[in-house]
Amino acid sequence: MSSLTRFGGRLTVRLQSLTRPQVVVLMLVVVLVAGIWTAAGTGHQGLAVSLVAALLLGVLLGILHLSRWMGGMHRANQAANRDLRTVVEQMQRRVVATVEKERLTAGDRHQDLSRTITRGLRQNGHGHDLLLRSQSREFEAMFQLFQEFTPRAPMPSSGDFALNPTDLLELLHIVRLHQPQLVVELGSGTSSVWLGYALEKIGGRLISLDHDEDYAARTRTMLEAHGLGAVVEVRTAPLTELLLDGRAYQWYDREQLKDVRDVDLLVIDGPPAATGPDARFPALHAMESKLAPTATIVLDDANRADEQDAVRRWTENITGLVSEPHLIGRHAVLSYSRSGAKVSV
Ligand SMILES: C[S@@+](CC[C@H](N)C(=O)[O-])C[C@H]1O[C@@H](n2cnc3c(N)ncnc32)[C@H](O)[C@@H]1O
Repeated sequence: MSSLTRFGGRLTVRLQSLTRPQVVVLMLVVVLVAGIWTAAGTGHQGLAVSLVAALLLGVLLGILHLSRWMGGMHRANQAANRDLRTVVEQMQRRVVATVEKERLTAGDRHQDLSRTITRGLRQNGHGHDLLLRSQSREFEAMFQLFQEFTPRAPMPSSGDFALNPTDLLELLHIVRLHQPQLVVELGSGTSSVWLGYALEKIGGRLISLDHDEDYAARTRTMLEAHGLGAVVEVRTAPLTELLLDGRAYQWYDREQLKDVRDVDLLVIDGPPAATGPDARFPALHAMESKLAPTATIVLDDANRADEQDAVRRWTENITGLVSEPHLIGRHAVLSYSRSGAKVSV
């Protein structure tokens, strides 16, 4: 394709893209130029000059219009620029404010976190201290227990389900003080062995109830190993329903207690809490008639809500039953006097 043809094509495209006023102006220019040529060619000099003047005037007016249009465009452009700058400045201010706010809240959050961590470390340290102190109390108690007795076989572990050394130490102190001839224990295990040694010394005996045949058998085996079979008798007493004030509890089968009377010391360490709410509450209602005229009751786990509630209800409802102060451990000590007279514990 020749360059002339390409030029023609481009020209056609441009002409097609002209607006109607531009087409009118172009037509006028073409008519004027044609008029000038014709007037000059036919010797009408005056007309040709007039047409040239008209053409120049038109060009001048066109330039004026163009410059006004460009001025307007320039002003519109400046106004748009100003608006854009305002919008950008506002956005910048908003971004800076948001970043500043975030920075401040991050600072606050950081302070909160530091405070929580410091508090946690302090509490942890406190918990650690408490644990160390309670452990050292248990070690001291264990040391005293072994000073008093020389076991004939390895002693079973204390703590967890079994009585803690501090509780065992006070229990054996009560045995030494009151010299009970008959002790009944609800919940057999490590305590049965320690009580066995203490009662062997003073000529007393222990009946220990266990609701679970396996645990009862384990306790019997331990007692045999320690040569305490003649001092301690472990009875299996499955849990059965016991009604108290219209409420049903699961408690040891009372058939296993029918020959029991004159209990000098009652140790309540069962049934386990997992067998039901207020699991140990029925103990005193079931055992009161079997207590000696004066007796001592030791309830383990008295730090728990159910046990604290049981002590409150017992002492409120059973005449002659009094809560006594105790030295160490997490158990409660109660004294019982059928006559209601004060008993020294
Ligand atoms: C609190 S325990 C009695 C513990 C016992 N007086 C002693 O000092 O070793 C009450 C009953 O829980 C059951 N028991 C003992 N050890 C247990 C264990 N590790 N897990 C589940 N039950 C256990 C036994 O049936 C026991 O009679």
